[in-house]
Amino acid sequence: MEIKSLLIEKFKEIFGNAEGVSCFFAPGRVNLIGEHIDYNGGYVLPCALTIGTYVAIRKREDKVLKFVSLNEDSKIYEVLLENIGFVDNAWINYPLGLIWTLNKRGFSFEHGFEMLVYGDIPNGAGLSSSASLEVITGFALNTLYNLKLSNQDIALISQFAENNYIGMKCGIMDQFASAMGKKNYAMFLNTDSLSFEYVPVNIDGMSLVITNTNKKHKLTDSEYNKRRNECDEALKVLQLRHNIRNLCDFSVEEFEEYKNEIDDEIVRKRARHVIYENDRTKKAVELLKNNDFINFGKLMKESHISLRGDFEVTGIELDTLVEEALKISGVIGSRMTGAGFGGCTISIVKNEDIQTFKYNVGNAYKEKIGYDCTFYIVSVGDGPAIIQ
Ligand code: GLA
Repeated sequence: MEIKSLLIEKFKEIFGNAEGVSCFFAPGRVNLIGEHIDYNGGYVLPCALTIGTYVAIRKREDKVLKFVSLNEDSKIYEVLLENIGFVDNAWINYPLGLIWTLNKRGFSFEHGFEMLVYGDIPNGAGLSSSASLEVITGFALNTLYNLKLSNQDIALISQFAENNYIGMKCGIMDQFASAMGKKNYAMFLNTDSLSFEYVPVNIDGMSLVITNTNKKHKLTDSEYNKRRNECDEALKVLQLRHNIRNLCDFSVEEFEEYKNEIDDEIVRKRARHVIYENDRTKKAVELLKNNDFINFGKLMKESHISLRGDFEVTGIELDTLVEEALKISGVIGSRMTGAGFGGCTISIVKNEDIQTFKYNVGNAYKEKIGYDCTFYIVSVGDGPAIIQ
């Protein structure tokens, strides 16, 4: 069934009728390179995907908010607009965080709504299911209540909600990629100034293959926040003698000259990853513009090695996927993508080798790790939209 009809059908089933319902979509994202950079003021290169989060939504006359997710056993949550608070272990914290942030920015809502959510991104896979849920909530409310926000505002509001309502101290990359995505383009984004450039992804004859480790019980949020603190610490030490605002203000050469100012070995390794990864991202975008995928792939590989050794966010699952992928001749590049600690890898694979890729990587992974990984051949899609 076409997605809009499915949403309307389900909405009717749950809320009695579907008069006046609007449907929206916001994408997940995959980052090609530039990992753990977006809270250090450097460059990232994500693209929006054609998978993401859908909502069907309708304003109510009263001040009640009703939420249902088709991914979470269709339980109906009810919250009063004037009574927004954190609900333990509930997905509705993402939309609630958006409203909470909008309230803080001076937007007040006279009317509640009914919202049905459906996502086709695997949860917790590091493909930004949460960012897409935040962005789609912002985008839908913007349309429904005529808030006059730009998509970039929606990204910033979503990040604020994630940082301050959810407590995950993420950078801007995921929300920005979801809100500003463009079909067949990556975004070369300066995460300090938010200036950005769309760069075409011309991977003729090749595909972007995402492989999910399916690792459960990750400590993504706590470990992520720890890395962020370590980077802040590195910055503080360097700022004692240098006039920099962000770690990424340092070039590789400057880092090599001054790295010994950082006594703590772990903190120094974290800084090394950040500064070299930022440099790789700037080089990678030039290679992408020249369709030089061979060298682009080499940078992906270096990125993974640095995330493994210096930033320590990979683990046996991600390392096995990358190691096995790189054994296949039709693999141009492969690396972990997103926060790490599980989640997914991104590989650029020649189309004729995709079956071999799935077979070899799938079997080797199962043998070593004990359970299956999952493959997705993805396309680069547009940002949020109303579904007509
Ligand atoms: C997560 C965060 C992003 C970014 C990546 C790592 O996806 O939400 O802000 O820091 O990890 O690059």
